[in-house]
Amino acid sequence: MRFAVFVSGAGSNLKAIHEACKKGEIKSELALVFSNRPKAGGLKYAQEVGLETLHLNPKDYTNPQSFDRDVVIHLKQAKIDFIITAGYMKLFTPYFVKQFPNQIINVHPSLLPAFKGKSGIKDAFTYGVKVTGVTIHFVNDKMDAGPIIMQEAFQVDPLETLESLTERMHKVEHKIFKKAIVLFEDGKLKVKAARRVEISD
Ligand code: GRF
Repeated sequence: MRFAVFVSGAGSNLKAIHEACKKGEIKSELALVFSNRPKAGGLKYAQEVGLETLHLNPKDYTNPQSFDRDVVIHLKQAKIDFIITAGYMKLFTPYFVKQFPNQIINVHPSLLPAFKGKSGIKDAFTYGVKVTGVTIHFVNDKMDAGPIIMQEAFQVDPLETLESLTERMHKVEHKIFKKAIVLFEDGKLKVKAARRVEISD
């Protein structure tokens, strides 16, 4: 299978996924890195290592639908089978999600459904949670609300700072995101009724 990684930020998850591809842990081809932000670190990384890249600027479109339609045209041209959103800070339109049903996988830095949104790590830290973690989930047209594939929880240390928590969060993200991608490409994830994602052996 061929997949695209969507990024808006630094791209540490993209890098971890790319490393897993190079080691043969992920067998699908990382065929495209897409960004809505020209200055995204992830886009720069992809260009430096010679991955196929595409940037489209939402400001060049009159509305989110026309932007997403154009993105879909490029994805179909590139024969993309599934999408990984790794710090892609833009909501998909229902049209986009319909083109890739249960074929878009996202990482979120909190134990969903707690602390949805753009600042999950900070919000959980500020709230004073004792346990937080990473969620990998399928994407639907509501923010951070698709069926959950996998979660890993960990304790927040008493002396934790936002910086140390962020660093630990990223380590867990890099570890479990690739596991979920491997389960997906091996056809082991099935979304059942009541949103439950069944993982087969
Ligand atoms: C990650 O913490 C991810 O969970 C969140 O955005 C961050 C992206 O980090 N959605 P990076 O760009 O992969 O370094």
